[in-house]
Amino acid sequence: MANAAAKRFARLLTEAIYQIRHRESKNIQLVQDELGYALKKKGGASIEYWRKGNLPSKISDLEALAQIIFERGNFSAEWMAEFLASARHPHVNSFLAQLFRANNDNSFSTQPKPAASLMNIPAQPTPFLGRDHELAVITERLVGPSCRILTLVGPGGIGKTRLALQAVQKSVQHFPDGVFFVSLDRVSSPALLLDSIARALQFAFEEGLPHKTQLLNFLREKRLLLLLDNFEHLIAEAPLVADVIAYAHHVQILLTSRERLRLRGEWVYEVTGMQFPYEESWSESTIAEPDFYEFSAVKLFVQSAQRVRADFAVRDDDKQAIVRICQLVEGFPLAIELAASWVRVLNCTEIAREIEHNYEFLATTWRDIPPRHRSLQSVFDYSWALLSPHERDIVEKLSVFEGEFSRESAMAACGASLPELSDLVDKSFLQMIKIDRRETAVTHYEMHELLRIYALDKLNAGQ
Ligand SMILES: Nc1ncnc2c1ncn2[C@@H]1O[C@H](COP(=O)(O)OP(=O)(O)O)[C@@H](O)[C@H]1O
Ligand SMILES: [Mg+2]
Repeated sequence: MANAAAKRFARLLTEAIYQIRHRESKNIQLVQDELGYALKKKGGASIEYWRKGNLPSKISDLEALAQIIFERGNFSAEWMAEFLASARHPHVNSFLAQLFRANNDNSFSTQPKPAASLMNIPAQPTPFLGRDHELAVITERLVGPSCRILTLVGPGGIGKTRLALQAVQKSVQHFPDGVFFVSLDRVSSPALLLDSIARALQFAFEEGLPHKTQLLNFLREKRLLLLLDNFEHLIAEAPLVADVIAYAHHVQILLTSRERLRLRGEWVYEVTGMQFPYEESWSESTIAEPDFYEFSAVKLFVQSAQRVRADFAVRDDDKQAIVRICQLVEGFPLAIELAASWVRVLNCTEIAREIEHNYEFLATTWRDIPPRHRSLQSVFDYSWALLSPHERDIVEKLSVFEGEFSRESAMAACGASLPELSDLVDKSFLQMIKIDRRETAVTHYEMHELLRIYALDKLNAGQ
């Protein structure tokens, strides 16, 4: 039995091979062979061996492999770090710095940047896909002089948080005092809002002056970027945002919210689904259509499917079904991730059929529910149906955690074991997040807010 690290390594390696295959239009076997030869081995046998859940025994093999994947796969620094860490590389950061420096990539430590401790941007468990246009517009606004408050607006599950995190990372060198992520999932009162911002900034309040004054004083001379994530339930607190902007002339604020704040000076960017082909029937020969794998929604489906089934490969007759799935959920990343996890038990055509079926059913039973909501609801319903009664029980009990929680607290709340938690990660009900990347990294879990509310409804309905 492969252990969890080896399994993770195998998945990442598979992801890399598929990415190289798509970029270079080659078949899997050829890519594996090429990687093998580049490592001075005879063909792809060792690559295959690692993909079956074995870690490279020599660091030099791992480093050579990382080097080739980096050159041919176009992965981010975060992804590369994850890859190396999963194979237990002893000095991930210094090796990465070397790698990026050798390739003159200015996204990694060639420019003066804020000290790492000033950046509390959480590492993401999956590679970031697509959104080139959105990122270009958002970063331009963030670093430009005229826009000081930018709100990414869109429904839950559309990808606001991921997009904001990515944009912030791209803009980091423009903010000498750092970029700071403030998750407001759990924050329900104005006092807690101040506390959360201060905690992210590692600023401690003292006795005396009101906390708000202390925070404004602290920010006054700073050149930094604050990312306030999930602001929708704090709209009444929007004046605090306006005050920060008014007092601290070099502070920039990026927010994500289901609705805009309606502040003067607020710029709004509406986030929509990821890209998918609009044509009713997909045909590769359609002139001027990008390649199948260039649609980010399609790519997300394939990558998510490969994460739960390492041998998942798209056959020609799956393409139509995958396009249909993306169309039905309108490119909603959260729905795509969930639907893709069904490849454990269904083929792509069956997945499309299930969503369509439930979608029609919801249309006739709940006439006034808008189509977009209907598609999410049908994906949630079916994912729920695929859980065993015991798993449903676990998810319901976990839904009381707002924000992230540790394995220990999951264990205490509902007796969920490690294999059960990782099964729920595979089913996309939970996300695994690493709080710290060093050897001692603590793994925490998180349920997307929409799924949490869905499960909480189930819990309340059952009581
Ligand atoms: N560009 C992307 N690339 C990869 N995964 C994405 C992307 N956008 C969203 N996702 C995934 O989709 C899910 C929902 O995205 P999230 O940013 O949490 O949505 P929101 O903040 O709008 O509720 C998350 O699991 C996230 O990792
Ligand atoms: Mg979010």
